[in-house]
Amino acid sequence: MGENVKASGGIVAVACDHGGLALKRVLAETLEAEGCTVLDLGVNDETSVDYPDYADRLAAALAEGKAARGVLVCGSGIGISIAANRHAHIRCALIHDAYGARMCRQHNDANVIAFGGRTTGDEVAKDCLRIFLTTPFEGGRHQRRVDKLGCCC
Ligand code: RB5
Repeated sequence: MGENVKASGGIVAVACDHGGLALKRVLAETLEAEGCTVLDLGVNDETSVDYPDYADRLAAALAEGKAARGVLVCGSGIGISIAANRHAHIRCALIHDAYGARMCRQHNDANVIAFGGRTTGDEVAKDCLRIFLTTPFEGGRHQRRVDKLGCCC
């Protein structure tokens, strides 16, 4: 899933619903400032939409190899992260702090980070995103555990 997206100038897909639009815009700017290429999958206005549709768009972009990692934002971050994790190739972590951002990479090899636009402030989210971009997966015993995260249905 790529260790350091920032260093490789990787493509990061971003998507949100209306509740996440303001924070998604902030995070897209952060990604560009960090040297990443942003693939913006919407939304881009305040019209009320259904967050699973945007999680699905982002999952499709990663499946098609159009982006290495993803950022999702809805009002709470809950719905859009649940929706993303329905896809077998997505490990999406809903993050609220720097510790979680580091752990989701080191221990869980998350390829998508989710935020709540109504719950997490811009500066905290920006710090978390930078950590997500640059923290490698530790592998070893964590690989064994990640291998057990496949669909059980
Ligand atoms: C939309 O009002 C809101 O339900 C959505 O953004 C998200 O918080 C759902 O989990």
